Amino acid sequence: MKTLVTEDVEAAAALLRAGQVVIFPTETVYGLGADAFNPQAVKKVFEAKQRPADNPLIVHIWRLEQVDALAHDVPDYARTLMQAFMPGPFTILLPKQSHIPDVTTAGSDKVCLRMPSLLLAQQFLEACGRTVAAPSANLSGRPSPTRWQDCLEDMDGRVAAILAGPEAAFGLESTIVDATGPVPVLLRPGAVTLEQLAQVTPNIEPQPSRTDLVTPGMKYRHYAPRASVQLIEPGQRPPTLCSQAGFIGLHAPAFPVLYNYQATSPEDYAHALFAFFRECDRRRLECIYAERTSQQGVGRALMNRLAKAALQA
Ligand code: TXA
Ligand code: MG
Repeated sequence: MKTLVTEDVEAAAALLRAGQVVIFPTETVYGLGADAFNPQAVKKVFEAKQRPADNPLIVHIWRLEQVDALAHDVPDYARTLMQAFMPGPFTILLPKQSHIPDVTTAGSDKVCLRMPSLLLAQQFLEACGRTVAAPSANLSGRPSPTRWQDCLEDMDGRVAAILAGPEAAFGLESTIVDATGPVPVLLRPGAVTLEQLAQVTPNIEPQPSRTDLVTPGMKYRHYAPRASVQLIEPGQRPPTLCSQAGFIGLHAPAFPVLYNYQATSPEDYAHALFAFFRECDRRRLECIYAERTSQQGVGRALMNRLAKAALQA
């Protein structure tokens, strides 16, 4: 399949309406989209991404009014959260309406809904005229793509089109909150921080307490470059230093590396992380040293992604 790279929203939307897979930009990371109500199209998303079929997809909307056609038994606290954080880098898990195909939610009776804030994403979704099921547009297990060029690296020849837009503003995937129980539960930390969520819903649980609440995606290795990732404390020197190494952190590395990114803030660190991982792989580096940060604010999401990237395959 020849992959069209285009800035033409209508051309990209026409391909999606025709049952094809189209990559589109959002403020978090790029998404790999298909018509959420076309099971054949949704299957192509799993194939293109080599994603296990038991890992459900987020359904993307462009108006809040679409929520009640997709979900039922929406708690008041979920409405409060949606009012506060949609559109934006925020996803809510709700009981799903039965007409959403099983393949989209991997057989789950719940659905994740997200409304991106990037104008180009909203224009694309509206031009599609239907809700779009989309995971991050990386090959399964690879770092999420924050630039259209990264999507091309993983997906050239595997998807019909890439709607080329700006670099993702946040660079980490959306915050996911489970709203299917009596109180909200943070399932995946993201750009909307726990502190911000707690201002709106003070009783939010910071992590799932029961194993059955864990999202299927959490059991898979994630966000990983080919290089091995080691987490280090600020100023720390690794005991045995790898010669083909990269470094990313808020401070300068205390040892020699071949490639280094010194972030100016935790937000900048989060924004740069996945692109840094990909650049290290292009440079064929063997190890990446990543500095730990605090769990405050976006630090929670950053440390969550770093910890997953550092897991051995
Ligand atoms: O920022 C984002 O959320 C991006 C952009 C494209 O919207 N999307 C994204 O999708 O990160 P993905 O598939 O890479 O991550 C979605 C996570 C997965 O861990 C998946 O298991 C979980 O959400 N998830 C989706 N639907 C679910 C459901 N019905 N029940 C439980 N978990 C669900
Ligand atoms: Mg993903």
